[in-house]
Amino acid sequence: MKVLFEDSGFPLLDYELLLEEIDYKNLLKPSVMPFTELPTGNYLISIRETAERLQEKFSTLVVVGMGGSSRGAKALHQAVGKENSRLLFLDNIDPDLLSETLNRIDWDKTAFAFISKSGKTLETVSLMNVILEELKEKELLSGERIVFVGDRGNAFQELSEELKSPFLEIPEEIGGRFSVFTAVGLLPAYFAGYNVERFLEGAYDLIATPLPAFYIAASKYLHYKAGRKISVVMPYSSYMAEFTEWYAQLWAESLGKDGQGQTPLKAIGTSSQHSILQLFVDGPDDKFYQLFFINRRSSDLKLPEGAKVLPYIGGKTLGEIMRAEFEGTLYALRQKSRPVIRFELSQLSEYQMGYLFMAYMVAVVVMAKLMGVNPYGQPAVEIGKRYARQLLEEGRDGGMSQ
Ligand code: PA5
Repeated sequence: MKVLFEDSGFPLLDYELLLEEIDYKNLLKPSVMPFTELPTGNYLISIRETAERLQEKFSTLVVVGMGGSSRGAKALHQAVGKENSRLLFLDNIDPDLLSETLNRIDWDKTAFAFISKSGKTLETVSLMNVILEELKEKELLSGERIVFVGDRGNAFQELSEELKSPFLEIPEEIGGRFSVFTAVGLLPAYFAGYNVERFLEGAYDLIATPLPAFYIAASKYLHYKAGRKISVVMPYSSYMAEFTEWYAQLWAESLGKDGQGQTPLKAIGTSSQHSILQLFVDGPDDKFYQLFFINRRSSDLKLPEGAKVLPYIGGKTLGEIMRAEFEGTLYALRQKSRPVIRFELSQLSEYQMGYLFMAYMVAVVVMAKLMGVNPYGQPAVEIGKRYARQLLEEGRDGGMSQ
């Protein structure tokens, strides 16, 4: 993985001076960033063995979890597994999504992971209740087809004891959107057959050489201060769309506090060139850009030498055409002096995803330190949650029936 800062708008020295001010070398420790303590030993073994036991009997795992309790695994699954049918995600209470998913699964061959740190999330608990009832009606409710993941002592642990299902703990100090390297991300990853060791190695390598993550934070902060309140994330791959969702949650929930925040904006190359690029290049200079390019795709196709309509594409691969378009976007942004960080991924693999997840988790904590906000927790989300709960407790529908 190469992270390139030459178009980022400031010399590296400026980033270093800024980082010195916050004593950045002392930030990369478990008391500040608990997620940098990667799983090892018995904890890792118990996750792997749980996944292996599920694999023996089931071919699909339905992951039920919201936000940080599913986005990381979903992004990894899309990037590495190209969304094969080993994993399915229920991360919305949308009744259509639930019906469609439940109608298409082979119930005999399907296991379920209910993931909630708090064990109280309305959507997760609602979906779980529907699924447990379905399993009961189908006479398929058995502890071996279900796994619970959550904080020790939460309501899911109690339920796991009742159903005789495994319960995997999330270390208490690791918050939802920072939990991809715990059972939250690793159980689905093991089940799907991904190389978890390489995934962790990518994260480990970032921790061992963390400067790119610090520079990302410093650069984004200096541009934020200069009025660039929007941060664009634009991978040149359809299989990184879920990564942009993961990034959006991390950046928005961690920094959107006390009237501050940098709004994440998701785009996908090349498709978004035909929708939003005009704004990026010639609209207001209020954005910071993160572009990602993958050098080696799992498959590539070559056009015939005598290509029809556009002769200059003859004999080129789709990868080469995509590269040219990526360079075109970069060129256009450079012409307008728009700040860009570029990521060159050798391929879309477990290692690269592990590296990226860790880089952004470190970067967001450093950015929060620079901004003076607490990156952990999302207190404002509670306002709406409390109101929804009140409506449900009082048996009101919030005006739906008017
Ligand atoms: O980042 C976070 O903490 C949140 O997005 C949570 O992951 C999300 O709200 C789900 O919470 P829980 O895991 O408690 O069900």
